[in-house]
Amino acid sequence: MISRDLEQPKIETMTETRSRLRVYDDTRALFHLPSGVTYLDGNSLGALPLGVAERVGRVINVEWGDELIRAWNSAGWYVQPRKVGDRIGRLIGAEPGSVIMGDTLSLKVYQALAAALDMSPQRRVVLSDDGNFPTDLYMAEGLIATLGRGHELRLVAPEQVEASLSEEVAVLYLTEVDYRTGRRHDMARLTAKARALDILTVWDLAHSAGALPVDLAGVGADFAAGCTYKYLNGGPGAPAFLYVAPRHADRARAALSGWMGHARPFAFDLGYAPAGGVERMRVGTPAVLALAALEASLDIWDRVDLDEVRARSLALADRLIEEIERRCPVLKLVTPRAHEARGSQVSFVFEGGYAAMQALIARGVIGDFRAPDIMRFGITPLYIGEADIVRAAEAIEEVIRDAVWRRPEYQVVNAVT
Ligand SMILES: Cc1ncc(COP(=O)(O)O)c(C=O)c1O
Repeated sequence: MISRDLEQPKIETMTETRSRLRVYDDTRALFHLPSGVTYLDGNSLGALPLGVAERVGRVINVEWGDELIRAWNSAGWYVQPRKVGDRIGRLIGAEPGSVIMGDTLSLKVYQALAAALDMSPQRRVVLSDDGNFPTDLYMAEGLIATLGRGHELRLVAPEQVEASLSEEVAVLYLTEVDYRTGRRHDMARLTAKARALDILTVWDLAHSAGALPVDLAGVGADFAAGCTYKYLNGGPGAPAFLYVAPRHADRARAALSGWMGHARPFAFDLGYAPAGGVERMRVGTPAVLALAALEASLDIWDRVDLDEVRARSLALADRLIEEIERRCPVLKLVTPRAHEARGSQVSFVFEGGYAAMQALIARGVIGDFRAPDIMRFGITPLYIGEADIVRAAEAIEEVIRDAVWRRPEYQVVNAVT
């Protein structure tokens, strides 16, 4: 039987032993970007780090191919969710040992909310906002129906969140950066106010992790979760992460009580007993190949300074806003102008937004569209520079000025927008 104590991984020390990479100047060459493409959609699916193919190839050929089942121990597959979690933890200000990888973000917010509601049995309100990502709200609805204890999912406008905190509220359940507009909540302020009222917090960091510095431990967040296929460049379907504050980790109940979160999974007990700490939030067998791809991406993230990423992101976003507003006044900015009030994307409202985005994509400028009328441009400074911003602005100007977006071929709506 494997003992959990023996398995505890050493926390990666790569950042101390390997040289720092300059954002863009050194990092751009570490990504594959097709020629002729200006990629402003890394807030949806990050670009491919060149190291991924080699790393995944090694896992396939050497670890899976030659080691076979032995690789769970010899190649460290079993402890990978925790080791990778610690590397993500550095990017979100989490304490060592407080982040676990696995599943999808939808499942991880469900687990976090379930644990938080369980820790606040007297209160019935889950407070969120109408800018939250739909899956977070759907998962909350599903959980509330399953619990059947009369909880209410209360949605208010983002600006009303702070004033809506009260002693009725069990959990404040928010996404820090709005997926459509890029508006950013003040996580430190809201978490402090929530804590003063004994409200637990669950933060969705999908548009924060790798986009801007996050300080979960510093602000005193209770739970947080995020995905790794956006700014973290882990690849399509890359595993999610879940943070549980160490003060809760040994008592948070894992609603999805799978065998990998058991205290002794290989004892095959008939009854469930949770593992100590955040390990209890593991559910089933980890996606080893997907985690390997993410590890290759983290080899870059380990070596960059998030403050530098943020400074570059804000400068590039300011430039894009300035260029688009000057060239295309018909596009209306919906992203806050104040630096502290936004994430790492720029969004404009335009009535022909979907068709205009299709026309841009046909010209090699890739952003995306969110219903009903938002054109989104993600800013990912590891592989996007000023020349990309100018090229995108030129293409946007052409598409709008020449009414290219009105052409019939750009009106066809794809399944994924
Ligand atoms: C804020 C936010 N939460 C959740 C999700 C989706 O989570 P999942 O990885 O389960 O599809 C997204 C997807 O873009 C998102 O933007």
